[in-house]
Amino acid sequence: MTDLVPLAAVDPAIVDALLDRAFEPARRGRTAYKVRGQAAAIPALSFAAVEDGTPIGSIQCWPVAFTSDAGARVPLVMVGPVAVEPARQRDGIGRLLMEHALAAAVRAGLDDRLILIGDPEYYGRFFGFTAARTGGWRLPGPVERHRLLARGDAVPAGAGTLGPA
Ligand SMILES: CC(C)(COP(=O)(O)OP(=O)(O)OC[C@H]1O[C@@H](n2cnc3c(N)ncnc32)[C@H](O)[C@@H]1OP(=O)(O)O)[C@@H](O)C(=O)NCCC(=O)NCCS
Repeated sequence: MTDLVPLAAVDPAIVDALLDRAFEPARRGRTAYKVRGQAAAIPALSFAAVEDGTPIGSIQCWPVAFTSDAGARVPLVMVGPVAVEPARQRDGIGRLLMEHALAAAVRAGLDDRLILIGDPEYYGRFFGFTAARTGGWRLPGPVERHRLLARGDAVPAGAGTLGPA
């Protein structure tokens, strides 16, 4: 039985260790971390998957902002990292976490402005994220353009800068 609980219910050090196992410690230098800056994760959109009291997966969402070259500022939500304990991957837990966070985004009225950096083969196939609007975006670090994904009507399509909220 997998329970989904607010991420705040789990010791942050345990979540950090899980992220290190799912990715690699060098993850902290990634562009996604620069995009979100020093902001705290959005509590209502961040969860852990727990089995028998042990966290086996997590999802965090962050407030970020897009500033168009014309000067318009659009608040967006960056989804991820999504992490599943390596021994438990490909067992539906990633999808469970994503679906739970996406439902929470609907409740919060934020599902029209979601972005993430991740594999289109996963986030496109299961959750409808695409790179269609992100081609003109500048980020504070390198990004593979086909992995800069977004979903929702409020996502801007033009040229501009993505960065901390
Ligand atoms: C990517 C991740 C979150 C997916 O969660 P998961 O619980 O392992 O996967 P799920 O059980 O939800 O989904 C399984 C399906 O997705 C596919 N899938 C999983 N990861 C994939 C990826 N990176 N690219 C393409 N497809 C992927 C599987 O092939 C499987 O498809 P199938 O049902 O047709 O066999 C998890 O594997 C993980 O933490 N990986 C390491 C960290 C990472 O890369 N995170 C995402 C980058 S932002």
